[in-house]
Amino acid sequence: MPIGRRELLLATALAPLAAAAARAAAPLPRPLRAAPANVAAAGQPALPVWAYDGQVPGPVLRFRRGEVLDIELDNALPDPTTVHWHGIRLPNAMDGVPHLTQPPVAPGQRFRYRFALPDAGTYWYHPHLGTPEQVERGLAGALIVDDDAAPPVDEDQVWLLDDWRLDASGRIDDDFYGFMDVSHAGRIGQRLTVNGATDHVLDLQAGQRIRLRLINAANARIFALELRGLRGWMIARDGVPADHAVPWEGQLLLGPGMRADIVIDADATGRHVLVDSFGRGERLVGTVAVAGRDGQRTAARPAPRPAAAPPLPAPKLDAAAEHTLVFGGGMMGMGGWPDDPWTERVARRLRRLGGSREADPVWTVNGHAHMGRHDGHAPLFSVPAGRSVRLVLDNRTRWWHPIHLHGHHVQVLSRNGQPLADPPWRDTVLMAPRDQLELAFVADNPGRWLIHCHVLEHHAGGMGGVFTVE
Ligand code: C2O
Ligand code: CU
Repeated sequence: MPIGRRELLLATALAPLAAAAARAAAPLPRPLRAAPANVAAAGQPALPVWAYDGQVPGPVLRFRRGEVLDIELDNALPDPTTVHWHGIRLPNAMDGVPHLTQPPVAPGQRFRYRFALPDAGTYWYHPHLGTPEQVERGLAGALIVDDDAAPPVDEDQVWLLDDWRLDASGRIDDDFYGFMDVSHAGRIGQRLTVNGATDHVLDLQAGQRIRLRLINAANARIFALELRGLRGWMIARDGVPADHAVPWEGQLLLGPGMRADIVIDADATGRHVLVDSFGRGERLVGTVAVAGRDGQRTAARPAPRPAAAPPLPAPKLDAAAEHTLVFGGGMMGMGGWPDDPWTERVARRLRRLGGSREADPVWTVNGHAHMGRHDGHAPLFSVPAGRSVRLVLDNRTRWWHPIHLHGHHVQVLSRNGQPLADPPWRDTVLMAPRDQLELAFVADNPGRWLIHCHVLEHHAGGMGGVFTVE
């Protein structure tokens, strides 16, 4: 039926009202578009990347505790993808693990993520499909849920730390599953960035107090961070507020996936450097520049008071289910290689040289390299919902591994038999070579969840599996 001009004008005039009414009835999701882009990054004027909303890192997504995150991913990438909301306690169907919790989002398709945000804190989001490639190409961003009673600060800043490995032509090196990387420390880039920029500077005025949310979004790089010349306190790790502010002294170890919230007092003028000294040598990460009268010092302020801890359920250790995960493999392995016959490994290796987009199986959890999609894998352990779990992580490799559990926060009870005072809460725990960690948590979130190394190349090489809460 043809529409008359009057009706058309009327319809046009009413369209915004109708749209507003529709919004009030059923709010529209915020779109989040993943697409190839060229951005100024890593010291390059126009680096070809994959980006959320055309920027690297992706937009800072900010909410208040209790709000509903309602975001529709629009996949304009050449490859299928998903979004994982790292560290949030969310319903299993929103966790973004392809095949396990949702189908992959094909190119040109959309997927709506919608869930309430139960806890304040610093989280982040990234794809969980082809992760070594997609995260390295630039897909990662901060997800901040604001505290109800945050310590008062003049500024609240996110520093998303990353590194890029560029090839000789200055582009992102596209060998994402290199055997050396997968079997050793993962893909370490040569170009360190803060919020996508090299030589990042935060400008402050003398006397300001700021909150700095550090997120390690690198594929594999572990940071050992030191801020020289300013006083800082740790007030939260992995989103969970600390009991009390802990003075930042010495090196703060931040493995891939981990976060630390710091309060810093700009109590000395000048340029203060954030330095990473993990492994050999030292690298500049970023700079805090404090303006003011030369040599001006402001009076030391009392330590900030972290927000109240969220109501994470306390594990009941006497009634806990006990499980052990033994991590093996890697170069210079101690537990040997996985069971795959050598010929299969060589065959895979040769396929890879021919341009394959998969890793070799080189890492094991309880004797198996868990390769590829996880939906066909037998769970590493299963527990009834509500049960407390005591989980031992036994690292029988010569490498560091940040082990991430989906859907839950865990308490770290002991390291190598030494009990930890005030057992800290984490969603990602960093194991040093040969470490034995004892964790505990209440498995109160039903579903099929991943537990994996957040060195993305290690996960691709077999270091990860599923646990189920029924
Ligand atoms: Cu941040 Cu399973 O990942
Ligand atoms: Cu690892």
